[in-house]
Amino acid sequence: MRLVNLGLLACAAICSLQAQSLRSLAEQRGIRFGAAVAPSHFSETEYATVLAREFNQVEPENLMKFGLIHPGPTTYSFGPADSIVAFAQAHAMAVRGHTLVWHNQRPKWLTGGTFTPEQLFSILQEHIKTVVGHYAGKVYAWDVVNEAFETDGSLRKTMWSNSPGIGLEGTGYIEQALKWAHAADPKALLFYNDYNAETVNAKSDAIFKMAQDFKSRGVPLDGIGWQMHIGTKPQIAGMETNMKRITDLGLQVQITELDVKVSVDSSGAATPAGLELQAKVYHDIVALCVKNPHCTAIQTWGFTDRYSWIPHTSKGNGAALEFDVNYQPKPAYNAILEALKAPR
Ligand code: G3I
Repeated sequence: MRLVNLGLLACAAICSLQAQSLRSLAEQRGIRFGAAVAPSHFSETEYATVLAREFNQVEPENLMKFGLIHPGPTTYSFGPADSIVAFAQAHAMAVRGHTLVWHNQRPKWLTGGTFTPEQLFSILQEHIKTVVGHYAGKVYAWDVVNEAFETDGSLRKTMWSNSPGIGLEGTGYIEQALKWAHAADPKALLFYNDYNAETVNAKSDAIFKMAQDFKSRGVPLDGIGWQMHIGTKPQIAGMETNMKRITDLGLQVQITELDVKVSVDSSGAATPAGLELQAKVYHDIVALCVKNPHCTAIQTWGFTDRYSWIPHTSKGNGAALEFDVNYQPKPAYNAILEALKAPR
């Protein structure tokens, strides 16, 4: 009898641990909790174990970008991103696609070539049709266009917009990309994704105006992605206002690239106080999403500090994710759990 009880106790402990994963709590809330990933780490047991245990969504950090998936004019390289889809399918995770139209990470054949707007129109059309078509039914949501606006709300000058552009004025190229993506997979949710546009400012005003226009004319836009590469002073009230105006339009918001950088020493370590502050930020962001039923996914840009882009690009900062370099949950992880458990 005692043994049985001990067994039950052990099971209760393990089961409650499992019930406490990010993915199980997110599932209870009807949202997805995702991570950006690189399949080169799947062979690392801890990476694969934590990813499968904690997340119900993945997104390639790089492998679906134009330069990697379409390396030659008529060459596509689907294999690496396909392995992410296979991992997701094996672990009942959803896949977000990132990204079809961006000014970065383009292939040499594109950046080094000279093209007319007519040629670029055809190139982009064929790219979107081929990539979205390949993943139809496997990728449930796409960042169709990424980072098209400047901080002041003007349109970024890019190969796709106006330098030389695909021959369409203003946000016309974004509209066209959404239409091509919709034609290639009518069931996929289509997002416009950007950074520093989560609170109310000139950039988010411009995105909102575009979204309003698209919605009024039936352009297939389903939501706005907030990247959210942030620090420890987020403006939650402004985010709430911005989220409300977007979701009032009938659009979703997804937090797509969340990481919260803190100061680190030369070994990459943050202070306990820094990690506590970071935990509060994670809590408040997740709570913000949980509160609005049209905020449908939260995704961090990676999940372990072992593989994060932050230390490579932001000197003196790091430790931005919810698991440390040894895959141990940080205060941020527990704070996310608490926020996922809170009533709406
Ligand atoms: O894979 C090559 C490797 O073979 C080579 O030896 C090495 C030398 O530099 O580079 C490796 O490629 C790097 C790649 O990441 C994979 O690690 C590129 O140099 C590097 O530029 C690239 O950075 C990516 C960055 O986008 C490019 O702009 C980051 O991993 C990725 O996290 C980042 O993601 C973006 C989102 O797509 C959009 N929002 C912002 C976000 C952060 O910048």
